[in-house]
Amino acid sequence: MADSRAIGVFDSGLGGLTVTKELVRHMPCEDIVYFGDTGRVPYGTRSRETIKKYAAQDEKFLLKHNVKLIIAACGTVSSVAADSAGSLPVPFFEMVSHAAKAAVEATKNGKIGVIGTAATVASGSHKREILKLKPDAEVTACSCSMFVPLVEEGWYNDDDIVVKETVRRYLQPIIKSGADTLILGCTHYPVLEKAIAGLLGGGVTLINPGVAVALAVKDYLKANGKEKLDSTAGKHSFFVSDKPDSFKNLASVLLGEEIDDRKVEQVDIGAL
Ligand code: DGL
Repeated sequence: MADSRAIGVFDSGLGGLTVTKELVRHMPCEDIVYFGDTGRVPYGTRSRETIKKYAAQDEKFLLKHNVKLIIAACGTVSSVAADSAGSLPVPFFEMVSHAAKAAVEATKNGKIGVIGTAATVASGSHKREILKLKPDAEVTACSCSMFVPLVEEGWYNDDDIVVKETVRRYLQPIIKSGADTLILGCTHYPVLEKAIAGLLGGGVTLINPGVAVALAVKDYLKANGKEKLDSTAGKHSFFVSDKPDSFKNLASVLLGEEIDDRKVEQVDIGAL
């Protein structure tokens, strides 16, 4: 039976729009409800308890919109708070296991790099998932704390000297490890993909978890007959927890298309 309900997506802020971009690319007809917790971003420097509490509120908000499934389009939530999603009444998709699977499939030398926020790297989530699939893999993870502010500042062009140097400095452990595959384990990092690829060269495969999760969701919907049946373009609704004013510019970079300010609504997420 077809299911015309929307796909629910949440992130600590606007970074999850890079995942939404892949969802739209792979499932253009599906409706999407996006919640970005812009009033409480970043999550990546917070404690496990706080991230779990915030994630539960974000999920509750999406459930109020009667979504058919929920995607934690946030590397940090996926790493730290995915276990609490077991009690949700709809299927839950996180980013880590899908990225790990794609990385294991891509690697030839068994050396996999992971970059993410401090909370993501401290959780060891990617390493755990990779080793489940490939026990002899060598995993090198490092946090790249300045990548998120860099992207939010609009500095992501691969020919920008600050971008080049920041990427070069953070990725030294990955280069030293000899990894032939690198998971971009934070929502903002795909925006820096060109700069990262420029440094690492063609010998390193970059894994965008947004692509991996979009394909997994598409497979799930198909296998369970839950795709939206009519083939009109999907409706996309955006909600944020801080003023939507600054949404437009950064959102267009992350989503890869213009967003009309009027389509963005502010909600009081703490009141849920
Ligand atoms: N969305 C977060 C992630 O993917 C990055 C921003 C934050 O720290 O909240 O980990």
